[in-house]
Amino acid sequence: MKIAVGSDHAGFELKTYVVEWLRKNGHEVVDMGPFSEESVDYPDYARKVGESVAEGSSNQGVLLCGTGIGVSISANKVKGVRAALACRPEFATLAREHNDANVICFSARFTDRETIAKSLENWFAASFEGGRHERRVNKIEPCC
Ligand code: RB5
Repeated sequence: MKIAVGSDHAGFELKTYVVEWLRKNGHEVVDMGPFSEESVDYPDYARKVGESVAEGSSNQGVLLCGTGIGVSISANKVKGVRAALACRPEFATLAREHNDANVICFSARFTDRETIAKSLENWFAASFEGGRHERRVNKIEPCC
């Protein structure tokens, strides 16, 4: 799969780990930056990744910032993106199975490498279950 990856300065180091993990596991990676630890604004990178997924240039996305919250909020502003913050590996499975999430977000400051690797493993092993979950996902729309 083609995976767009982005972060802010807080997520930069772990982004490098994620990019390596994805490549090692057979995925094509589009690294959307940043490319140093210089301070940047997370909405800029979340938007790049979100748009890449929404327009179909990438199949899915991975985003990291200090808490993972900023990139989640930002990516979810892009129409067609369902970004899920994975605090533990089970969240990654359920985000795919129940929410048909297409972007996974991590906290670089509160998540260790082992948790991220297991979460990515779960994410790619899981698929959307449809059925009642499809009805619910279809109701996720901007309302005002
Ligand atoms: C940057 O210090 C920090 O605010 C950012 O990485 C993120 O945690 C925001 O949600």
